[in-house]
Amino acid sequence: MAIRPKITLPALTPANKELFMSRFYSNIVRSISPYVPGEQPKDRRFIKLNTNENPYPAAPSVVLAMQSVSGLEARLYPDPEAAALRRTLADYHDLSVDQVFVGNGSDEVLAMAYPAFFNRTDSIAFPDITYSFYPVYAAMYEIPSRVIPLAKDFTIDFTAYPQDLKGFLLANPNAPTGIAVGAERIEALLRQRPNTLFIVDEAYIDFGGESVVALTKSYDNLLVVQTMSKARSLAGLRIGMAFGAPELIRGLESIRDSFNSYTLDVVAQRAAKAAYEDVPYFQKTRQAIMATREKTVAALRQMGMQVCPSSANFVFTTLPGVAGADVQQYLRENGVLIRRFAMERIKDWLRITIGLDKEMDEVIRLLQLFVQQPR
Ligand SMILES: Cc1ncc(COP(=O)(O)O)c(C=O)c1O
Repeated sequence: MAIRPKITLPALTPANKELFMSRFYSNIVRSISPYVPGEQPKDRRFIKLNTNENPYPAAPSVVLAMQSVSGLEARLYPDPEAAALRRTLADYHDLSVDQVFVGNGSDEVLAMAYPAFFNRTDSIAFPDITYSFYPVYAAMYEIPSRVIPLAKDFTIDFTAYPQDLKGFLLANPNAPTGIAVGAERIEALLRQRPNTLFIVDEAYIDFGGESVVALTKSYDNLLVVQTMSKARSLAGLRIGMAFGAPELIRGLESIRDSFNSYTLDVVAQRAAKAAYEDVPYFQKTRQAIMATREKTVAALRQMGMQVCPSSANFVFTTLPGVAGADVQQYLRENGVLIRRFAMERIKDWLRITIGLDKEMDEVIRLLQLFVQQPR
């Protein structure tokens, strides 16, 4: 065996893949372009508006719940059924427990939905501009994806979706645009296409969208995926949920139990339950974020920036005639991290997470200075 120098390999990217390839890689590792998460800086303090985290801490009642886990409880495996948490979620949404699935973040729930419901001969459709994990899962499970362009104004043109789809993945509100679709529109689709499974990803639903969770009682072609990372301020604990007909939930459980039965640890289960029980804190913080968003949108428009109508905890905005990369770089140099996607159609658009009022005031101040610069 050759002696290796002690170096840390960089993450695999399409550009460096050839260089660091191991001969043991599967075809999937050789071909896939993994999802690239937003930066989590360690070296410097930034105003961090790049990963749609909640600017408010988790509720004090949730922190107490986390601290209540004893050493003896930590010794044991967690409840694989997450029964207490699922009961709370079912009661919250007026569903039965067998309509509720939980997983390690909604990313994991989505990752389990693909193999639970799709074969390599099926196809799953989603818009060209949406959560960038969707095509990665499709590639990983080798499920053909049908990528349908959004309309010019970034709304979804449902008439462009073929009738023969097995699956339709819809982020509502969409990411990174923040644009929401009404529940009535989704119900019409469920009725018109009973043989298409609609997976509605409601990661941002609590910031102004209309949830379709209640429709899972009437439609067996609907799976609603949600997360506690955003409106419940628990991104660090990794808790995601799915709501659907019991048969769909059983399909997800079948994949989970073929992969890892204990996806949610004991602390996460306890905290998640407490988060759903603390309705006043949830209401107060989500209302505060929505109020800050409205002020931010008004200020951005005032200085000539174009902004998509947002029902999420972020805004999608562009300064006409200016390269998005330049604005992003300028903000970074001034201590603000935001997210931008390299895709041609949106490369000049910026996704800015809604932070605290004082953080957004600073972003607005910086952008005002930038807009006034001669160019
Ligand atoms: C649309 C959408 N879905 C799902 C997720 C994943 O959320 P989590 O895995 O933290 O639950 C995100 C994260 O940003 C998202 O934007």
